Amino acid sequence: MRKLVLKGDIVFTPSMDEFKIYKDSYLVSENGKIVGIFEKLDEKYKDYTLKDYTGKMIIPGFVDIHLHAPQFPNRGMGYDKELLPWLQSYTFPEEAKYKDIKYAERVYRDFVKELWKNGTTSAVIYGTIHKESTKLLMDLLIESGIRAYVGKVNMDRNSIPNLTEDTERSLRETEELILEYKDKSPLVKPIITPRFVPTCSDALLEGLGKLALKYDVPVQSHLSENTDEVKWVSELHPDAKNYASVYDKFNLFGQRRTIMAHCIHNTDEEIDLMAKNGVYAAHCVHSNFNLSSGIMPVRKFLDKKVPVGLGSDISGGHEISIPKVMAASIQASKMKWLETDKKLKPLTLLEVFYLATKGGGSFFGKVGSFEKGYEMDCLIIDDSNLGIYRELTVEERLEKFIYLGDDRNIVDRYVAGKLLKEPR
Ligand code: GUN
Ligand code: FE
Repeated sequence: MRKLVLKGDIVFTPSMDEFKIYKDSYLVSENGKIVGIFEKLDEKYKDYTLKDYTGKMIIPGFVDIHLHAPQFPNRGMGYDKELLPWLQSYTFPEEAKYKDIKYAERVYRDFVKELWKNGTTSAVIYGTIHKESTKLLMDLLIESGIRAYVGKVNMDRNSIPNLTEDTERSLRETEELILEYKDKSPLVKPIITPRFVPTCSDALLEGLGKLALKYDVPVQSHLSENTDEVKWVSELHPDAKNYASVYDKFNLFGQRRTIMAHCIHNTDEEIDLMAKNGVYAAHCVHSNFNLSSGIMPVRKFLDKKVPVGLGSDISGGHEISIPKVMAASIQASKMKWLETDKKLKPLTLLEVFYLATKGGGSFFGKVGSFEKGYEMDCLIIDDSNLGIYRELTVEERLEKFIYLGDDRNIVDRYVAGKLLKEPR
C-alpha cells in the first residue's frame, strides 16, 4: 500500500460556501486517496512517507476542462478576428499539420510539459481529426501522470479540404480509439468530440451519440460562443428549437457526462436543459475576450445549478495557467455586473477557486477536493517571494498567489498520490 503524508498549510473548497483551511497540518493518503487531515499525526501514521512542506500551501491541483493541444503553437496570434474567420484562417490550417506525427510529437511534448509546469493536474483536451497523433498525445499524457480526457475531433463538413473527414471513417476511427484506450490507463481516457454543430453532419452526430451510449464514454463540444455561429446553426437546422437541442436530439447533451464550452449566448431554455441533463459549462474567459465572443453570465448558470468548470481554451485563450484564468474570470464577472446586469453578482475568489478545482474536477469523479475518499491530486505552493510585508491569513496568501504567482511558485505536483516528474 502506498502511504503518504504531506505537511503544510492546507486549503480547499468542499463547496462554494467556504474555504477549509488547516494551518500546519498533515494531509494523509493511502493508495492515492485522501484519508484525512490532522493537526497532530497519530501513531498509526508514523511509518507513512512524510514530506515536510512546512510554511508552504497545499492546494488541490488545477482542473482545465477545455483546451486544444494542437492549437498550442497558435497561442497569442490571430486575435483581431472573431471565431468563424479565426477558425478558417488560423486554427484549421494549423490542425491540418497533425497528419504529420513528427510535428505532432514536437508540439505535444511541449504542451504536456507546459500543463505540468502550470500545475494543471487534470485536463479535458481536444486533439485533431488524426487518430495516430491523438493516440500519441494520449500516450504522452499517460507517461506524464497527468489525469486527462482526450478526444479525437470529428468534423465532416464546413472545414478546409485537408481537415475534413469522411463520415464513415470518422466514426470507425473514433470507435477504434475508444476500444484501444478505454481500459489502457486509469488516468487518461477517451472522450467523444464532435467539434461543433456547423462542422458535423447529422449522420456524424447520430453515429457519435450511438458510440457514447454504447461504450459509456463522455462527450465534449462547443455551444453558443459567438453570435454569427449561433445564427449559422439556426440556418443549418431551421427546424431545431435552439442550438442545444441539436446535440440533445443525437444523445450528445448529458445522456452521458458532457461538457459544452463557452455558453455565452444561450437562451434560458437551453440553460434549463443543461441543468436538467447535468451538462457542464466550461467558462473560457480569455478566449471569450480574445475573439470578442462576449462574457458568459456565469452567475446565472450557478444560480440554476448547472455544473461549471474553467477552461484555458488554448489557443482561443492565450494562457494555459489556470490561476491566470481564475483572475480574469473574477474580473470579467465584475464588468458584466457593472456594465450589463446588476442581478449577476460578481464571482468571488472562493467561488472561482471552487470552479478551478472541485467544480471542474467533479467531471472526473472525486477530484479537486481533500475530502475523505478524494483523489490525492495536489500542488505545493511556495508564496514566500510574493511581496509579503505583514502576517497574512492563508486566504490572503492564496489570493496573492492566484493574482501574482506563476509556475515558479509551484514546488511540487501530485496526482493520485504520486509525485509528477517534469515530462521529458
Ligand atoms: N468552435 C469550434 N471549434 C472551436 C475551436 O477550436 N476553438 C474555439 N474557441 N471555438 C470553437
Ligand atoms: Fe475550444
